Amino acid sequence: MRYLTRGWLLRFLQFSTVLGSLLILSRFSQLKTGRRPGYIRKYQWLEYTDDDELPEKVCNCSAILKGEKEELQKAKLLTITKDFQKNIHIPDEYYIHAAQDCRKFKLTRKYITFPLSKEEEEFPLAYSMVVHHKVHSFERLLRAVYAPQNIYCVHVDRKSPASVFAAIKAITSCFPNVFMVSKAVNVVYAGWTRVQADLNCMADLYNTSTTWKYFINLCGQDFPLKTNLEIVQALRSLKGGNSLESEEMPQEKKKRVTNAYEVVDGKIQRTGKTKDPAPFNLPILSGNAYIVVNRGYVRSVLEDKRIQALIEWAKDTYSPDEFLWATIQRIPGVPGSTWPNRKFDMTDINAIARMVKWQGHEGSEGSLQAVYPECKGHHVRSICVYGAGDLQWLIEQHHLFANKFDADRDPIAIYCLEKYLRHNKPAKQTELY
Ligand SMILES: *[C@@H]1O[C@H](CO)[C@@H](O)[C@H](O)[C@H]1NC(C)=O
Ligand SMILES: *[C@@H]1O[C@H](CO)[C@@H](O)[C@H](O)[C@H]1NC(C)=O
Repeated sequence: MRYLTRGWLLRFLQFSTVLGSLLILSRFSQLKTGRRPGYIRKYQWLEYTDDDELPEKVCNCSAILKGEKEELQKAKLLTITKDFQKNIHIPDEYYIHAAQDCRKFKLTRKYITFPLSKEEEEFPLAYSMVVHHKVHSFERLLRAVYAPQNIYCVHVDRKSPASVFAAIKAITSCFPNVFMVSKAVNVVYAGWTRVQADLNCMADLYNTSTTWKYFINLCGQDFPLKTNLEIVQALRSLKGGNSLESEEMPQEKKKRVTNAYEVVDGKIQRTGKTKDPAPFNLPILSGNAYIVVNRGYVRSVLEDKRIQALIEWAKDTYSPDEFLWATIQRIPGVPGSTWPNRKFDMTDINAIARMVKWQGHEGSEGSLQAVYPECKGHHVRSICVYGAGDLQWLIEQHHLFANKFDADRDPIAIYCLEKYLRHNKPAKQTELY
């Protein structure tokens, strides 16, 4: 295999040592013969122990999660070394090849293959994952959120390179509950198709399974801050409610819905026409692309005539993902919605859907302008791309997911989060019941 560079061929060979597999299997059969078959009582076998062959292994994640300065400095230096940069890159072709043997792929990558608790099994989730590149990141995200009782729809941008499509298709074909969206669109930044990608997954998820309780949408740069069990518990405590940003639209954003826009050469621009008010005089609220909503909300999106009209109306607006979900959340009769009155406004900080750090809101605790501490990674379009130094703060937040991560720029942030979700955390809850 010419395309396999030595560094990571070694890594993945080590993942799949016969010894490692036997160890897992023997622990598995121990569980099977235990007095309470079905759910595991100890999590140790889930640890990513084989990941100790990754180039990130020299980092002490316990120290990083505690925010220890020396260790963070070390991590930062490591990230910028040439060797490290070379070793962490995994080409798309690797996945096309590795996913040929699904059993081995799931075993060596340590996917969770059975529900870890009765509570989780009885509360399946539906995920929409909208991605366009970086198969490596996608696979780590899928692995982090994967549970066999959940269902996952993956939308790969229609303009993505063929190798990205092929690699992600190969991965999804290893799981009966992970599938490619039936209709992929060409996603244009700030354009309607960003919403259409999620809508297509919503329709497929709604049609494929009748049992899931909540819908969560993800993009390739998200990563969970909670385990599946914690996500289930957080959602149950919403008691049927939805959790997403939905607040008054700032004056400077109003032009996004009063002017008409169109896509020209893959870019969105004004047509020069103005738009009529929204149908049924629905008040337009401001929010973001990421939502946590119950099944009834999704049914309304697909079937409610008022929402169908709103969707048609929104197709020539600017960045409809940043107001459509927020607006639907305040339409009377939508399951889990709240009244349009301002007192029900919810900010992104109070919602649990996503933690995003905007550069303009960073600062120190005493400042009236500041919403969160300064970004320890770097910024892309005024949004923080988290560094390892952000983890200590991130894992204390109530949000289920955070955005943005970049597995190429700061792989240690993701590496330590993965370890935390599988290892640090479950250690505190070895007895599930
Ligand atoms: C990693 O950091 C933790 C927390 O500071 C410390 O207790 C532990 O000894 C360190 N482990 C290693 C192998 O250095
Ligand atoms: C769901 O599936 C049915 C039957 O296959 C089809 O007629 C319907 O259009 C689908 N609905 C959606 C929302 O995709």
